[in-house]
Amino acid sequence: MKLLVCGGAGFIGSNFVRIRLAQGDEITVLDKLTYAGRRENLQDLDVRLVVGGIEDPAAIADAIGGCDAIVNFAAETHVDRSITEPDAFVTTHAVGTYTLLEAARERSLRYVQVSTDEVYGSIESGSFTEQSPLQPSSPYSATKAGADLLVASYHHTYGLEALICRGSNNYGPYQYPEKLIPLMILNALHGDPLPVYGDGQQVRNWIFVEDFARGIGHVLEHGAPGETYNVGGPDEAVNLDVVKRIIALTGASDDLIEYVTDRPGHDRRYSLGSEKARALGWEAQVRFGEGLEKTVAWYRDNTAWWAPIRSGDYRAYYERQYGRALG
Ligand code: NAD
Ligand code: DAU
Repeated sequence: MKLLVCGGAGFIGSNFVRIRLAQGDEITVLDKLTYAGRRENLQDLDVRLVVGGIEDPAAIADAIGGCDAIVNFAAETHVDRSITEPDAFVTTHAVGTYTLLEAARERSLRYVQVSTDEVYGSIESGSFTEQSPLQPSSPYSATKAGADLLVASYHHTYGLEALICRGSNNYGPYQYPEKLIPLMILNALHGDPLPVYGDGQQVRNWIFVEDFARGIGHVLEHGAPGETYNVGGPDEAVNLDVVKRIIALTGASDDLIEYVTDRPGHDRRYSLGSEKARALGWEAQVRFGEGLEKTVAWYRDNTAWWAPIRSGDYRAYYERQYGRALG
């Protein structure tokens, strides 16, 4: 297929591009290259990169020629940043998604929106299905939910071949170290404190990034237009246990754990039921223990990828977020 991959220079998008190129797709990436989007994530790959925002019709027009389908990963993705600076979340998720949908509608292109389990909110027991109500908690998840509703409306109103794919917490190579797992790995490797929010008993449903990327490809190829598919990981884990596993894998000390002020409005538990995606023929292949080992090894072996991040603007972000400097 000839694909336009928006947000393809980020964590999940670049993993998706790598997998799809190996399967023979031709790919153009449209990416604004925010702090989270990096040319380095694509440097070994044969793709055309157009630098621009999905809210910019001219950038889309430049990138879209000859494509059969659009997969939209482009987003602001960090919940903590959505709490302190929600602006870009509204622009990218609302205006950006709308602008991209208009481009898809003009050209009658198949469209996959990459979304998140966070649109359902928090769940005490059991798992969310695609029928669960949308009850987002943060500016991040609320704007993602808004984007999903807009995508669904383009199918309902205009007959656009639009599908939605909702993932659970991803981890793996190329993830920006503001997110729990890469942040804890790099801090543990450097002997920096490991900041655990609140009591550390929140639960997340972890999926290895290659499993999610394959799931999105599967929905793109086999999903029914107008449908939503949950693509969740095989394992749930309590945050504090994740941190302790990382300590064990890096050989760091338990003394690095530091309990810090909780995230405002912090969702307690996510759990995603993926029966519908499994019925389509997709299955997660990587269990959390194996994936976490691979991820720690990747960060250990790829200093050249994270060193420019850890020594750049990220330091100022870290200081604002955690009230202390990195070592
Ligand atoms: P990321 O932050 O690593 O990458 C986002 C990418 O989008 C970056 O390359 C960035 O430059 C680009 N981007 C941001 N705003 C843009 C704009 N206006 N126009 C064009 N490009 C723009 O994010 P990620 O973790 O790879 O997430 C990708 C998608 O998957 C997002 O839609 C996110 O909501 C969804 N998702 C993420 C997870 C997760 O655990 N990380 C889980 C489920 C769903
Ligand atoms: O569930 C899917 C979502 O997962 C995606 O849609 C989001 O884009 C992605 O960022 C992620 O959201 P979370 O908020 O769950 O991920 P994060 O890595 O920020 O945090 C995971 C958990 O760890 C959460 O309960 C908060 C906690 N945490 C996080 C950080 C960064 C800490 O305890 N300390 C930290 O320093």
